[in-house]
Amino acid sequence: MKKKILYLSFMLFFAIAVNAGAKDAVWWKLPSLPSPEIYGNILIDRASTKAGVRPVTFSHWSHRTRHTCRVCHYEIEFNMMLNTTMITEEANKYGRYCGECHNGKDAFDHSEENCEKCHNGDITYGIEFGTLSVLPGAPNGNGVDWVKALEDGLIYPKNYLREENKPLEFSRPIHIESPWAGISPVMFPHDTHGKWLDCSNCHPEIFGIESDSTEDLAMEYILNYEFCGVCHGKVAFPPNNNCKKCHIKMKHPGKAIEKMH
Ligand code: HEC
Ligand code: HEC
Ligand code: HEC
Ligand code: HEC
Ligand code: HEC
Ligand code: HEC
Repeated sequence: MKKKILYLSFMLFFAIAVNAGAKDAVWWKLPSLPSPEIYGNILIDRASTKAGVRPVTFSHWSHRTRHTCRVCHYEIEFNMMLNTTMITEEANKYGRYCGECHNGKDAFDHSEENCEKCHNGDITYGIEFGTLSVLPGAPNGNGVDWVKALEDGLIYPKNYLREENKPLEFSRPIHIESPWAGISPVMFPHDTHGKWLDCSNCHPEIFGIESDSTEDLAMEYILNYEFCGVCHGKVAFPPNNNCKKCHIKMKHPGKAIEKMH
């Protein structure tokens, strides 16, 4: 009973906060989402424009059907932050970075006729998005439930490039209790993440490796692309409308928030 009252008072407070947000657009602004076919697409332009070539198009959804995040963000060492990796033409040509696969064997090569396939400044460039329509759906992000697609064997991204990698068996689910009364604790599944990522993608830079050791882990920061928001909101499913995926017992606050837009 007490819990229920706390929950209701939270909802009331929340409705007010959300309403205020609609006017001032400060409180809990959910990220505005690009359309599904360009969610997770990026234009890399740390050096291109400066060097007189067009920015480079890169599609996460297209690449993640064939390789896990681990391959690129652990083995190949692309940073999970746009325009921070020192990718150069020279490095690519000699088989580093994009060139690890774009070598004419695993994917198109680095020859003259292919410069434009990458350097086209077009964030919508890529294979037909329609090929994803066979995968289980999701309300937003790419419109794809990537967890289910993998579980059902509809995609089979390679988890390593050179040496076979056996993912560490670490499936301890983590319950992250909220400091707010009435907010359903967050369930963080290690096993689901382990199928895509390496431990070092999260530890120790984003999260402490002890339960409750991560300071400032709160929604405000997540919506600002920190903590879970490093991925959730950019490449993995966004917070919008997906509250229950993390707060598994939360009732319907997602809908209330959606009204902000
Ligand atoms: C598989 C994709 C891909 C292909 C093919 C490709 N590039 Fe690039 N290239 C990149 C990426 C990624 C960067 C880094 C972009 C940035 O940070 O702005 C880059 C950077 C560059 C740069 C700027 C950095 C530097 O080293 O001066 C130049 C110039 C360049 N490429 C020229 C070319 C030319 C010419 C071709 C064709 C012969 C080519 N690229 C083919 C992906 C590609
Ligand atoms: C084929 C390689 C590849 C795969 C696979 C891949 N990424 Fe990336 N990712 C990149 C590159 C390249 C960048 C840009 C790095 C840069 O500009 O310094 C990037 C950037 C990012 C960013 C920052 C995006 C932004 O807009 O700031 C995030 C977050 C990210 N990746 C998460 C993931 C996740 C999660 C997965 C798996 C579901 C994944 N990546 C799979 C290559 C890859
Ligand atoms: C782990 C392997 C791998 C890496 C690393 C990789 N790619 Fe690819 N990429 C592929 C494969 C496989 C294809 C599909 C086969 C083909 O088109 O030749 C592809 C296709 C593409 C395409 C065609 C359109 C699409 O999205 O399918 C573009 C553009 C592209 N890659 C850009 C890049 C850029 C830019 C980088 C580096 C920032 C990069 N790729 C790094 C494997 C990779
Ligand atoms: C990717 C996972 C994830 C999603 C999706 C998500 N949250 Fe959270 N949320 C967290 C984490 C982690 C915390 C911090 C730990 C805690 O408070 O339980 C948190 C905390 C909260 C809190 C407590 C106050 C605070 O800021 O810490 C509220 C309220 C909340 N979330 C509401 C929502 C609502 C509403 C949605 C849907 C729009 C949502 N969350 C979606 C992970 C998520
Ligand atoms: C997607 C991000 C992510 C990945 C990948 C990840 N973890 Fe974690 N891990 C977390 C979070 C979040 C917590 C909770 C931190 C907190 O409560 O402050 C955590 C907590 C832990 C803890 C403490 C658990 C406890 O009950 O005290 C250990 C141990 C741990 N992780 C080990 C690993 C190992 C080993 C791997 C690789 C197999 C891994 N993690 C991969 C996000 C991740
Ligand atoms: C380094 C990237 C990264 C970080 C950080 C991260 N996740 Fe994820 N998460 C993923 C990817 C990739 C998936 C697979 C689904 C997708 O891509 O939409 C996933 C899936 C999930 C799922 C499974 C949903 C389902 O359908 O079963 C939950 C729950 C989840 N994340 C919660 C969290 C929470 C809570 C945090 C922060 C404590 C967090 N994640 C941090 C990348 C990340």
